[in-house]
Amino acid sequence: MSPDLSSLLYLIASVCFIMALKGLSSPESARGGNLFGIVGMVIAVVTTLWLSHLGWPLVVTAMLVGGAIGTFISVRLQMTSLPQLIAAFHSLVGLAAVLVAGAALFKPEVFQIAEGSGIKVSSIVEMSVGTAIGAITFTGSIIAFAKLQGIMKGDPITFKGQHLLNLLLLLGIVALVAWFAMVGSADAIAAQKIFILVALASFILGFTLIIPIGGADMPVVISMLNSYSGWAACGIGFTLNNPLLIITGALVGSSGAILSYVMCKAMNRSLFNVILGGFGGGAAAASGPAAEKKPVKIGSAEDAAFILKNASSVVIVPGYGMAVAQAQHVVRELADTLKKEGVGVRYAIHPVAGRMPGHMNVLLAEANVPYEDVVELDEINRDFAQTDVAYIIGANDITNPSAKDDPKSPIFGMPVLDVEKAKTVFFVKRSMASGYAGIDNPLFYRDNTMMLLGDAKKVTEELVKAMSGGGH
Ligand code: TAP
Repeated sequence: MSPDLSSLLYLIASVCFIMALKGLSSPESARGGNLFGIVGMVIAVVTTLWLSHLGWPLVVTAMLVGGAIGTFISVRLQMTSLPQLIAAFHSLVGLAAVLVAGAALFKPEVFQIAEGSGIKVSSIVEMSVGTAIGAITFTGSIIAFAKLQGIMKGDPITFKGQHLLNLLLLLGIVALVAWFAMVGSADAIAAQKIFILVALASFILGFTLIIPIGGADMPVVISMLNSYSGWAACGIGFTLNNPLLIITGALVGSSGAILSYVMCKAMNRSLFNVILGGFGGGAAAASGPAAEKKPVKIGSAEDAAFILKNASSVVIVPGYGMAVAQAQHVVRELADTLKKEGVGVRYAIHPVAGRMPGHMNVLLAEANVPYEDVVELDEINRDFAQTDVAYIIGANDITNPSAKDDPKSPIFGMPVLDVEKAKTVFFVKRSMASGYAGIDNPLFYRDNTMMLLGDAKKVTEELVKAMSGGGH
């Protein structure tokens, strides 16, 4: 294949990826976006294989083994474990960037970056940036995976002088890269030793950067690591002189950065604070025995059915528990039953409900909930005061008013759904336990709240049955 043709095919693949991102920005066009992504990826893979010097048997064997592992994991995976899977995948992207840079350094002639007895200075700078970011992404993502999977405790791990250590490591990496650039073009053996030091220092920095970040900030960390993995790929794209890798790396890097910013805004965190770590955790102590002493109204499905039937507007607030119980289909059935009774029904979506961006949108779309019934936080918050019933199913933190009125709360400042303004508030959950942030929710004890304790799917099924039975 001529270089012109491969450049053209890479350009077409890049345009497909841009169209894919555009399509994925709204549920209506997401399918089309996915299709563009698939077409772009097929063009990219076929072109790369065509250009490959490795020989087809090796590449096809690697694809078959990788594909088999990927299929095995995705078939067994629960939707709720998706964030840690994404973290694990990011770690592989980071490691791949380090390994490709290492291969280019040890065999520069294969990658056409050799110059005399060393490597071109520009290639050294590109590969060291890719290596540093890739190594930080690798260890950082492993820690994020371990925290989300429960292998490590989600609490922030902090120690004195942590920020100073991170700063020294960062300065050390910059100094090593400068040294690398100075000796690398003249002395290949010295360059290899410095490269190993850059990688080691960056592996340590990835670890020390992520351990102080608490559970509540993990979503932002995952999207930040996603962005890092893109920039690592972009850096290596320059080393390999591969325009497709540069463009896709930049797309992943910038879209991850934008998502991190949007999520920080949704949780009222500054990106800088999240990156510095040590925020957003240590909350578990806030829930405790005091929670059980306060009086609580516990209702039955029949009580709830009676109130719902007499309502004229209902807002359903889905959260993580709906995903665990896979209750989205029966929730839709409940909404249909209510609509038949002439009740207006809408769904309120909080930007960090569940455990990944867009988690609730995906589940509701799977249950064929009409898009026009799904309303974002800002818009629905204007309407709660005119709402008869807020039906909160498996959600907790995203409704917690401590975020508004308790400056000591770890979620203080995070925008929440103002469900308490509704005439009646139902909480469907299994117990009085806290949610992800580990803090008690004062709404459970309010006069206009009724707890419907039980599994989200089971309770909602009982409710649909009670309503259809027409007992009241
Ligand atoms: P949470 O605050 O975690 O509350 C979920 C509630 O669901 C729990 O209190 C739990 O109470 C209940 N639950 C669990 N399984 C259930 C089941 N089978 N049936 C009924 N209820 C069940 O969830 P949320 O309100 O959606 O808030 C999301 C939280 O996760 C935020 O703190 C957010 O920062 C964090 N987070 C978000 C993301 C993204 S990007 N969305 C990623 C990671 C973390 P019981 O145990 O009493 O049933």
